[in-house]
Amino acid sequence: MNTQSKKQANVVVVGSCSMDLVVTSSRRPGAGETVLGESFKTVPGGKGANQAVAAARLGAKVSMIGRVGDDTLGQTILENLKQNGVSVNNVEPVTHCESGTAHIILAEGDNSIIVVEAANRHVTPEYVEKCREIIEQADIVLIQQEVPAETVLLVSRICKQAGVPLLLNPAPARPVEAELIENCAYITPNEHEASLLFEGQSISDILCRHPEKLFITEGSQGVRYFDGQQEAVVSSYRVEAVDTTGAGDTFNAAFAVALAEGNQIGDSLKFANRAASLSVMRFGAQGGMPTRSEVEEAL
Ligand code: RIB
Repeated sequence: MNTQSKKQANVVVVGSCSMDLVVTSSRRPGAGETVLGESFKTVPGGKGANQAVAAARLGAKVSMIGRVGDDTLGQTILENLKQNGVSVNNVEPVTHCESGTAHIILAEGDNSIIVVEAANRHVTPEYVEKCREIIEQADIVLIQQEVPAETVLLVSRICKQAGVPLLLNPAPARPVEAELIENCAYITPNEHEASLLFEGQSISDILCRHPEKLFITEGSQGVRYFDGQQEAVVSSYRVEAVDTTGAGDTFNAAFAVALAEGNQIGDSLKFANRAASLSVMRFGAQGGMPTRSEVEEAL
């Protein structure tokens, strides 16, 4: 992918802004059990904010639409977005409300997460309606499912009416309306999310019915999609993973940036896989998110 002469992508992210409270432990406790952990850290997260930061590090102009609480976590979340070059003009604190948090256990080579939505619940259709204009002016819009379902549907309608491509990262998994699937330009579920979105249908069938729209992420196997004629797989890169939290967010952001710059789907997926592979090499959802030059060098 020749990225030198590309115009800067104008990316809008609608989604969650949270603080990740991360415990590392040799194993996770069972019900009713207490285990001793090894470390505890507080780092910025939330799928929306993660995708905004990843896209900004990859060189895009990024505007975030979201909410934080009126607490100190909210101030830290806002500061972090600004430091990463993300516009926070549309991230308003909610009065008398806590910021969203994600309670993460890193153990046995994987993470388990409980998300408390808090202020993210206030990313309502009414709130997003006030930001309609910046959505309409985007080259691409990214959205996930840590904000209310009605909001996701509204954003899809705005994008469809304005002819702006919407990339839906349907995480965390929940069933969605057929209209949402219809309105999206790109959807990037993992296998579990895909089986919820298209209940009772085989992966091959759903891929075939959504050519160059549905991209199923299969972890270390890569990404599977239907190119209009046949199924294709774009392999992922093997690396020594320190923390996989945020790898999916990096993938989605990088895919969106590459597409918005006018790159082919295959090249964009390769770029996204490379960015995601680099992101897992450091601690924290945003800790390992690479810069543009780091991805280009690695490619
Ligand atoms: O995708 C990773 C993110 O999911 C974490 O940063 C955490 O906030 C959870 O929402």
